[in-house]
Amino acid sequence: MGWRGILGFDYGIVQAPLGPDISGPELVAAVAKAGAIGILRAPDWESPDYLRELIKRTRSLTDKPFGVAIVLAFPHDENLKVILEEKVALLQVYWGEFPRELVEQAHQAGVKVLHQIGSFEEAEKAKKAGVDGIIVQGREAGGHVIGQEGLMALLPRVVDLVYDNGISVIAAGGIVDARGYVAALALGAHGVCLGTRFLATKESFAHPFYKQKLIEMDRTEYTDVFGRARWPGAPHRVLQTPFFGQCRNLPEEINEASQPIIGSSVIHGVPKEIPRYAGTVPNATTTGDLESMVLYAGQGVGLIKEILPAGQVVEMLVEGAQRIICESFL
Ligand SMILES: Cc1cc2nc3c(=O)[nH]c(=O)nc-3n(C[C@H](O)[C@H](O)[C@H](O)COP(=O)(O)O)c2cc1C
Repeated sequence: MGWRGILGFDYGIVQAPLGPDISGPELVAAVAKAGAIGILRAPDWESPDYLRELIKRTRSLTDKPFGVAIVLAFPHDENLKVILEEKVALLQVYWGEFPRELVEQAHQAGVKVLHQIGSFEEAEKAKKAGVDGIIVQGREAGGHVIGQEGLMALLPRVVDLVYDNGISVIAAGGIVDARGYVAALALGAHGVCLGTRFLATKESFAHPFYKQKLIEMDRTEYTDVFGRARWPGAPHRVLQTPFFGQCRNLPEEINEASQPIIGSSVIHGVPKEIPRYAGTVPNATTTGDLESMVLYAGQGVGLIKEILPAGQVVEMLVEGAQRIICESFL
């Protein structure tokens, strides 16, 4: 059963990497301490010394295992070297191909590989590359969304694809509580991956304004309005804020590159200006016009009513899933 653990961790619960730096050491350590799989997010630029520090800072907060994520669409070779040298428990990859040679290199370093995919074809490639786990991302998911299919239809197909390969299948998109967890298990998943729910925790590095909006708002939309210049062809799911309402039909040729600066953040230690329509969510350091910044969230956001400690989220998922299964299905 899912809660008995996957990939050497106590539980089959994954805290999604939250870019650009929202899943930092505090969140990852809190999730790891609770027995689930916490994943740090590496910078989108080569910064090996900084990343090594980030891993060390996390290790100073917990002696439990955790993972690090890279987005393959951005430069990452030097960062990847550090991840393997530091021998973290797992590497999560997304938005691109991660070939067999690299999976083998990771395995030689004792690092397991989790690939997040959004289509059956991508799952076939990940299986061929020899990954240890596949995160199946449905269109319900918050943040960037790589595929078009709903989780309910895609997940069982991937389960069938890898059923005799020992690959862990993990469901992502719209799951925020034990009911979603049990539903994913019923579809054949071994575990679940939650982004928005862990975003709305005490330890996440999101700005308090962003966390408050996750509680207040319940509608999201799939769009490509934000970050078009920096990351073209990368649709995402966002909260339907009043600002988003004004710009949802932004003409194709307009992007953040020609827009005024509306605020600034320190991201992974580097000061950055934020233009209007940038794809950067506000972190705890952000100042400026927060109301006009992108706020990623998954379709399950309407079920989130309070900011909780991350460890409590893990506990509620595990205990809730056990209770639902015992009371309703046995
Ligand atoms: C704020 C935010 C940032 C995200 N950043 C990343 C990322 O850097 N890498 C990644 O693989 N997925 C990222 N995701 C997507 C998650 O991996 C996951 O697919 C998604 O959160 C699942 O849907 P949910 O938010 O409804 O739980 C992000 C999601 C959110 C909400």
